Amino acid sequence: MKTMALAVLVALLSLAALVGTTTAVVSADVARQAKDDAEAATQNPGQDAPAGHVHTGASAGGAGLVSYAGQTAENAEDLVAKRQPFPAEMPPIARGEVVDVALTLKDVVIEVAPGVKYSAWGFEGGAPGPPIHVREGQEIRITLTNGGSIPHSIDFHAARIAPDQAFKDVNPGESITYTFQADDPGVFMYHCGTKPVLAHIANGMYGAIVVEPADKPLPAADREYVLVSSEWYLNGPGLDQPAAYDAAKAHAIQPDWVTWNGYAAQYVAHPLAADPGETVRFWVVAAGPSLDTDFHVVGTVLDRAWVNGDMTQYQTGVQTVGVPAGGGAVFDVEIDEEGMYPFLSHSFASVDMGQVGLLKVGNPKGTASH
Ligand code: CU
Ligand code: CU
Repeated sequence: MKTMALAVLVALLSLAALVGTTTAVVSADVARQAKDDAEAATQNPGQDAPAGHVHTGASAGGAGLVSYAGQTAENAEDLVAKRQPFPAEMPPIARGEVVDVALTLKDVVIEVAPGVKYSAWGFEGGAPGPPIHVREGQEIRITLTNGGSIPHSIDFHAARIAPDQAFKDVNPGESITYTFQADDPGVFMYHCGTKPVLAHIANGMYGAIVVEPADKPLPAADREYVLVSSEWYLNGPGLDQPAAYDAAKAHAIQPDWVTWNGYAAQYVAHPLAADPGETVRFWVVAAGPSLDTDFHVVGTVLDRAWVNGDMTQYQTGVQTVGVPAGGGAVFDVEIDEEGMYPFLSHSFASVDMGQVGLLKVGNPKGTASH
């Protein structure tokens, strides 16, 4: 079993496209650091290391917790190249005065990084759950069906509703339905609110709902993408058998992977697209469970930032905006020059653990086309 730091994968995938740019320098630094970490870890493997695995990254934290950060399958590049990325494209807006949203919770094994399997609890069988796109003023009728083995629930941050009734636990095999009026525009998190919430969110029970402003429409955008930030806490590398939730690491906020839309660096292998001069809008939710994300696009400045999802006003010309765990924000960029522009959390530990993607503007030379 060969191990490979994700940072190296990121570097390999992005170096060809980014030679001569600041990002190439960053990637090279990241690769060098990962190599150093790997060498250090080989000399001092972490505790409880399964035979045949080498620890990369921080092999053991202050609490003596074992990290599996950066460990992927031997054929990581093939796996990520062949994998269908989680669709980041904004789905069409739901029609009608009443929008029915039916979500079934399932116990599923998913992948969170190349070859890294995880026993998750997923809305509609994945993590994140499907992005939901509605318009301000619509009535949203939520039905959660619990197809899992323990109680779950569903909490919509976009709702003003008594949580003890609407967000209550649903037993396995049962359903709950409630409605709320989408009167607050923005991008909001939804998630399971069953105790311990930390475990339910860490296991994948979250998603984003976009409530499009109706009264004061936003400036036109040519492309719109929905990005959900989240981190994963693994009790094993997940390579030979699925990893599961590690409560101690979740309490210590010592993740193994940090992702956009549930899978490490998937948009490095499969960049999001735009044409030069187009306005690209990112609707971002930080699901956590505990980490914020510091949204930044390398090589440009955010033209508009609806900070905290306050859709009544936006900031202009800002470089990085923090999106708190459990919060959302909306960002516009208009990029004229062709190239590969990484979007990431500028809290760079998160980049090393997978929270980086590429916005491919035009058809820059030396880049594989998709
Ligand atoms: Cu749950
Ligand atoms: Cu919440």
